Amino acid sequence: MSGFLGSTVGKKYLMGISGLIWAGFVLAHMAGNLLIFVSHDAYNSYGHALTSGNIIYVAEAVLVLALLTHIYTAVSLTIHNRGAKQQAYAAPAKGAKKVSLASRTMAAQGALVLVFIILHIITFKYGVYYETTVNGVVMRDLAKLMAEVFQSPAYVGWYVVCLILLGFHLSHGVGSSFQSLGLMEGTYRQLWKKLSCAYAAIVALGFIAQPLYLFFFAH
Ligand code: HEM
Repeated sequence: MSGFLGSTVGKKYLMGISGLIWAGFVLAHMAGNLLIFVSHDAYNSYGHALTSGNIIYVAEAVLVLALLTHIYTAVSLTIHNRGAKQQAYAAPAKGAKKVSLASRTMAAQGALVLVFIILHIITFKYGVYYETTVNGVVMRDLAKLMAEVFQSPAYVGWYVVCLILLGFHLSHGVGSSFQSLGLMEGTYRQLWKKLSCAYAAIVALGFIAQPLYLFFFAH
């Protein structure tokens, strides 16, 4: 990559935009999944509607491209920053200069979220194919698969841990993306920061409620 997009600022832009694409997806994914609280039929009909048209292939292509861009720019910026920091400071920063734990561990969180996404797609998208009929239409019974998977305490625990980490990753990441895109300037800075945290909490808690609900209440 050369020119603006290959520069540090350009990579930050790309990292921010690709991150925001995923941030939009996870909010929509979490909100759509809430239909599991309505009924299995409602959830399956929603999944069926989403996967029946061609738009799903476009969405998947955008997500894969955004994920690859996000990983490439994140790795490249992390290597660049580590090199720069080693030269700049002899001692770790303290007080106001100290960077938050969520911020310092972004790379590690990101790596775990990536492992989560890969295993998650294997479990659900490519998992056992149950069928059901809703209003005369034959469709995949994803609700049954979800209810089955989340009978295992190990699975529920793994999801809760990963979703908490995703929450931290989003809270810091969304704020940083706004900063890279120049939206965190001036008086609204604190408001944007609070909005990022609120958004991350909504996504993480909305997701966490699903495995917990299926574990405790759906037998
Ligand atoms: C409680 C949490 C979650 C549940 C119950 C859940 C459930 C599901 C289910 C049932 C599918 C299969 C959809 C289908 O094949 O039609 C799916 C797909 C997917 N999920 Fe999740 N999900 C959760 C969290 C997440 C999170 C946190 C992410 C990302 C960080 C994520 C990313 C994806 C992706 C990328 C797909 C594949 C979409 C596609 O290509 O069609 N999910 N999820």
